[in-house]
Amino acid sequence: MPTENLFAPLPPEGEPPRMVTIEFNGAPLALLADAPLAAGLLVAGVRRFRASPVGGGARAPYCMSGVCFECLLEIDGVPSQQACQVQAREGMKVRAICGKPT
Ligand code: FES
Repeated sequence: MPTENLFAPLPPEGEPPRMVTIEFNGAPLALLADAPLAAGLLVAGVRRFRASPVGGGARAPYCMSGVCFECLLEIDGVPSQQACQVQAREGMKVRAICGKPT
């Protein structure tokens, strides 16, 4: 489990927030820097982080505190990472997880 601080100071008033570009399912996506990856993806409109292994339904972050495991993603080739516990970094390669066998 990462121990980096997930809290970041706000930019000075009137200054635009710092952004990073990641790759999500093969497409570039701009996210707030220094924010939890799950929060940045939700703000960017991502609503399907993984598929339920039972019915294939869309799953997305629920607790944002590392408890529910609904935010699992493949991050830089490592499967089942909790996106709410990882900061968005420039160049990350992130993929949704398809939990239902085909
Ligand atoms: S949102 Fe619940 S563990 Fe990440």
